[in-house]
Amino acid sequence: SVPALVLGIETSCDETAAAVVRRKADGRGEILSNVVRSQIDDHALYGGVVPEIAARAHIAMLDGIVRLAMEEAGIGFADLDAVAATAGPGLIGGVIVGLMTAKAIALAADKPLIAVNHLEAHALTARLTDGVAFPYLMLLVSGGHTQFVLARGVGDYVRLGSTIDDALGEAFDKTAKLLGLPYPGGPAVEKAARSGDGKRFNLPRPLLNRPGLDMSFAGLKTAVRVAAERAAPVSDQDVADLCASFQEAAADVVASRAKRALEEFAQMFADVEPVLVIAGGVAANTRLRQGLDEAARATGARLVAPPIHLCTDNAAMIAWAGAERFVLGLIDPLSVSPRPRWPL
Ligand code: KG4
Ligand code: ZN
Repeated sequence: SVPALVLGIETSCDETAAAVVRRKADGRGEILSNVVRSQIDDHALYGGVVPEIAARAHIAMLDGIVRLAMEEAGIGFADLDAVAATAGPGLIGGVIVGLMTAKAIALAADKPLIAVNHLEAHALTARLTDGVAFPYLMLLVSGGHTQFVLARGVGDYVRLGSTIDDALGEAFDKTAKLLGLPYPGGPAVEKAARSGDGKRFNLPRPLLNRPGLDMSFAGLKTAVRVAAERAAPVSDQDVADLCASFQEAAADVVASRAKRALEEFAQMFADVEPVLVIAGGVAANTRLRQGLDEAARATGARLVAPPIHLCTDNAAMIAWAGAERFVLGLIDPLSVSPRPRWPL
């Protein structure tokens, strides 16, 4: 296929990001620049992402970040083959800022526009980093999503199972909040858990003995609250033990679901090496990775974990998804609308 040089823009949550990625004719990817500006400090005071603040910060930062990404790549807009931006799912204000900026650049430079589904971009990242071939399984675990997806081709995905309530990152964040730990909760819970006893509190593993690949984390978070109330006043050691016990339960649920997903995959594609790729911020969690590693080994599968800065929200994955779509002729009109809710 043809090579593609694509600028990607990501503004769907609390990262303002722009990147330039090349997809070579042999299908391999190369990141020329990848600029991410996290808004964590803007939102920390409120204990979560405030949509209005996020949208305003994207407006303030995006132009400069796009310029930086182009400078670092050493190219001008005229050199691009296409401009890609997240068109959803995500917070509507931020998505509008990124998509309109991409439209303006596409119009001014006379380049095709590609409206990227943020979840598809997470799903395709392992092809950029590891050249993974279709079909493969993806586990997306972020602050907004927790789902198993079968990736059969570009634009061809089947959701096999997902959380029926909180996303796993959300459960980490809420657990941290109720234990008095800072935002974002995931890293704080993992850090506290290091000095904790994961067996002290016997927390539930919701839905675990039900068939299928759905998951549930709201009850787990509630169980932490109840255990914390019983242990009150909670000491630092109690917090550490609660965090470790929560993390054990969460990792158990995800690993057992992953094992089942891989078994189903092996049945569907008998001649294909089963591959599980992980994406999303929670994929940074060491205990979770360990559980997934064991699940993969138990089923003879390969676990592909892109570097953490490409698991969390970034624009290289948007540019790459744009490049994958561009070479297949999948471009969008300038009239394309943002889609705040847009399932894969
Ligand atoms: O993918 P991401 O950067 O943003 C979106 O949600 O789209 O994921 C952020 C989520 C937050 O909920 C954060 O608490 C969680 O990922 N997270 C972690 C860890 N690092 C980030 N959760 C558990 N352990 C971690 N080490
Ligand atoms: Zn994301």
